[in-house]
Amino acid sequence: MDKSISKPITTADPYKLVFVCLGNICRSPTAEGIFLHKVKEEGLQNYFYIDSAGTAAYHVGESANSKSQATANKYGVHLPSKARKFEYADLEEFDLILAMDSENYRNIKELDTKDKFDHKIKMMREFDPQPDMKDVPDPYYGGMDGFENVYRVLERSTAALLNELKPLIQK
Ligand code: 4NP
Repeated sequence: MDKSISKPITTADPYKLVFVCLGNICRSPTAEGIFLHKVKEEGLQNYFYIDSAGTAAYHVGESANSKSQATANKYGVHLPSKARKFEYADLEEFDLILAMDSENYRNIKELDTKDKFDHKIKMMREFDPQPDMKDVPDPYYGGMDGFENVYRVLERSTAALLNELKPLIQK
């Protein structure tokens, strides 16, 4: 197993994940909210530290987009995020950095100038059991159907991710 998903997970040393998109108001807050919901449902909240961020600063301080919130709420999922910009310190801080699309991935890698953190940076859809494309498509300029699609992709991708992490938990 690769280094980023092989550390033992304990309450003393929780696994830290950050979901990253462009604006941190649509895709990454949705991934964060769904993953948080799943972790709480399984009573595992003390084993994870879950966050999200954006590679751009346009929306810093904002809550999740109203269409993202409406879609998540329909499935009983709350999106708690306040947008912030992804920064160099996040490369050091987090165990797993999940880019929603290839552009986000490139922008994260641009901060990793010494190529020290490559093992922690992954595409979200590497975990998608039905990956019809590499990216979680940006829904920002489209209608509700795009937000619904993003939700479904992230629902199954985060479920698979949590299943991969659970065996590392040491109770
Ligand atoms: P996100 O969507 O990256 O999924 O949060 C976007 C949000 C805002 C913009 C683009 C994408 N924007 O151009 O402001």
